[in-house]
Amino acid sequence: MEDITVSAPGKVILHGEHAVVYGKVAIAASLNLRTYLLLRRSADNNISLDLPNITIKRSWTTDRIKSQVSLPLCDPNKPVGVSEELLTLLKDVAGVHQNESDTKQLAVITFLYLYCALAAHNGTVPAIDLKVVSIQPVSAGLGSSASYSVCLAASLLQLSGIISTPSGDGQWSEEERVLINSWAFFGEKILHGNPSGIDNSVSTFGGAIKFKSGKITPLRRVPKLHILLVNTGIPRSTKVLVARCRARYEKHPDIIEPVLNSIEAISHRCEEVLAKMADSPSNDQYEILEDLIDINQCHLGALQVNHPALEEIVRTAAKYNLHAKLTGAGGGGCAFILIKPDIPLKTVTDIKSEFATMKFQCWETSVGSPGVTAHCGNDDELNRLFS
Ligand code: PMV
Repeated sequence: MEDITVSAPGKVILHGEHAVVYGKVAIAASLNLRTYLLLRRSADNNISLDLPNITIKRSWTTDRIKSQVSLPLCDPNKPVGVSEELLTLLKDVAGVHQNESDTKQLAVITFLYLYCALAAHNGTVPAIDLKVVSIQPVSAGLGSSASYSVCLAASLLQLSGIISTPSGDGQWSEEERVLINSWAFFGEKILHGNPSGIDNSVSTFGGAIKFKSGKITPLRRVPKLHILLVNTGIPRSTKVLVARCRARYEKHPDIIEPVLNSIEAISHRCEEVLAKMADSPSNDQYEILEDLIDINQCHLGALQVNHPALEEIVRTAAKYNLHAKLTGAGGGGCAFILIKPDIPLKTVTDIKSEFATMKFQCWETSVGSPGVTAHCGNDDELNRLFS
C-alpha cells in the first residue's frame, strides 16, 4: 500500500465570536496554516503514533488492541461518539500518564477511538505508523485540534477503503467530506467536550462558513484574503471569557443586546462583501472590510473580552494604516490584520519586525484555502516535513 498523506487547515473567526453564543451569526474561514498527517503500513506488528508538536510518541501491538477492545466497534458509515464505557477502556489502553497534560492524553485517546472505529472496522487490525505535524500554532484558538481530528478521520477512512483515494486536486466528494466531518466532530468531542462544530467544518470543507444556532452553511464564493495573524502568546480560557461576556450581558441586557445585534449585522455585511469580492475585488470592498474590523473590535471591547496586548496590536496596526481585530475568545490569544493587495511589501516587513521586538509571534497567511486534501507521495516539501 502506498503511504497516505493528508492535510487540513486551521480556522480564523472573522466576525461573530461571542455573539454566536447568543444565537447570532458568525463567519469563520479556513487558514492557510495546516496540519499534515503521514500514514504508513508498518512491517512490524505495531500501531505507532508520533505527535512531535506535543512530544507524544506511543506504540501498541496489534494483539493488545485485539485483546482489549471488542471489535468492530461500529459501522464506519454511521458516525457515532465514544461511550463513557469505551472511553474508560481507551484511557487504560492509552496508558495515560498522571503527569501528562489533558491535551496530550486526549490526543492519544482521540487517535485510539478513530483507529478502532475506522481502521479496525472489519475485524482486521492493521499495523501502521502515523505521524502528525502541525505548522499552525497549537492552543491559540486557531482550530489545530479540529484539523488533527479531520486528518485522522480522512486518513483512516481512506486506509479502510470506506472513502476513495482522490486523484488530481486531492479533493474528496461532497458525500465523502460529510462523512469525514462527522467523524472529525466526534474526535473533537473527545478533545473539547462540547464543540460547536465550526472548527471541524471549516477544516473539512475549507473556504468560509456561516454559523448560527448550530447550523453551518458553507459560503460558496470566497475571495482569498491575505492576513497577518499575530499571537499575543497570552493563554486564555474560552470558558472564562464566555462567562465574562455573559456577566456583562446579564447586568445590562438592554445595552448589550444591541451590541450583539450590531455584531450580527457585521457578519451579514461581511458575507455580502465576500461574495461580491469573489467575483471582482475592489478597493471599496476592502475598505468596508476594514470598517467592519474596526467596529467589531470596539464591540468586543464592550463585551469585556479585550486585553491590553490585543489593544497594542490594534494600535501598532493603526500606525501603519492597517486594521486589526481579535479573533476567537479574546482575552489574549490572536488578532488578525487585513493586508490589502496594494499594501507595500515593506510595510508588512516593518510591522512584522515591530511585532518581533514586542515578542509577538506572527504569520503572514491567507484565508479561504482548501479544506482536507490528500497529497501525493512525491512532494519534496512534505518529505522534508516528515523526515
Ligand atoms: O478562541 P476559540 O476558537 O475558542 O473561539 C471561541 C468562540 C466563542 O464565540 C467565544 C465561543 C463559542 O463557543 O463560540
